[in-house]
Amino acid sequence: MTAILETLEKPLIGLPLQDGRFAPVAMPSLEYTDAVAAETAHLYERVKTVIPAIEWPVMAPYVKAINDLKKVRNAVLLAHNYQTPEIYHCVADIVGDSLQLANEATNTDAEVIVQCGVHFMAETSKLLNPDKVVLIPDMRAGCSLAASISGADVRLLRERYPGVPVVTYVNTSADVKAEGDICCTSSNAVEIVESLGVDKVIFLPDQYLAKWVASQTNVKIIAWTGACEVHERFTGEELRTYREAQPGIQVIAHPECPPDVLAEADFTGSTAKMVNWVKKHRPAKVLLVTECSMASNVAAEAPDIEFIQPCNLCPHMKRITLAGILDSLVFMKEEIVVDPLIADRARQAVERMVNLKS
Ligand code: 13P
Ligand code: SF4
Repeated sequence: MTAILETLEKPLIGLPLQDGRFAPVAMPSLEYTDAVAAETAHLYERVKTVIPAIEWPVMAPYVKAINDLKKVRNAVLLAHNYQTPEIYHCVADIVGDSLQLANEATNTDAEVIVQCGVHFMAETSKLLNPDKVVLIPDMRAGCSLAASISGADVRLLRERYPGVPVVTYVNTSADVKAEGDICCTSSNAVEIVESLGVDKVIFLPDQYLAKWVASQTNVKIIAWTGACEVHERFTGEELRTYREAQPGIQVIAHPECPPDVLAEADFTGSTAKMVNWVKKHRPAKVLLVTECSMASNVAAEAPDIEFIQPCNLCPHMKRITLAGILDSLVFMKEEIVVDPLIADRARQAVERMVNLKS
């Protein structure tokens, strides 16, 4: 922290904040010195099995600068399970699935939240923390599910199915959440649907998650046609091929996968439930049917387990980088703002979920 404060005397790179809420700071030095190596050595220990040593000199100065600046900015860094290992293990304060991140967002005393994940996650944090500054390192970090439906679509569905409650997956915009009755994540979707005490719900926008929920409950599900561009690429045939080539492998899948994929899985659950399953069962060999970085993050903590990684990457999650996070903290960008006309209603839908969970 001292090193960064000392650099304030140096000329600023980039624009200082326009509204004066946060003091300008200079871009920290990104040189890999002996001091940086020593200060970050314990962090490299956490990732040494998944990040080659030759890459660490490039990452370490960013890691040190981000960790220093978090203190200067009184910022907390929330990272989704799909973030890359250097983010997940070396700069994040809180990691987890969408539900854990939403819950943690209600608990923080930090003034600033930096969301290392996609836009709907940052928007959810902002809804739950209207008075805090919520930053996302790259505004373009979207989601094919969130992009598949608008608030106007939900209003049309309500006209078509009068009186049927609407459950919105957290992977939606605030505009869509505002038109729904309650939000859910893949971790609590069945519980949320059943909590409504009705025999029919509209569940959107993920058609595959909707099908999986329908298979777990007697409540009739009316679905939308959205899909996750990462999970819908997996096929049942591909998993059968892996099983043939890797006898004894355990296959665990995210419920955003199509039904033929889930039919091949030994376990289905949210990303946090998948991580917990691996930690509890400690299979010799496992295939996580989800975004590829998650396997690297778990592998770093479980070197005794062999992870087979069909590397389906989420291009939106991968927009978040160490360089982008550092820019966020130096320049206090990009700030998430939710239209006040929709924020209150969207917040109610998220809070109903969070309150039900706790
Ligand atoms: P969870 O982490 O809530 O399971 O969600 C997965 C996902 O696709 C987030 O983008
Ligand atoms: Fe959206 Fe799929 Fe990427 Fe998750 S993995 S952010 S659901 S596109």
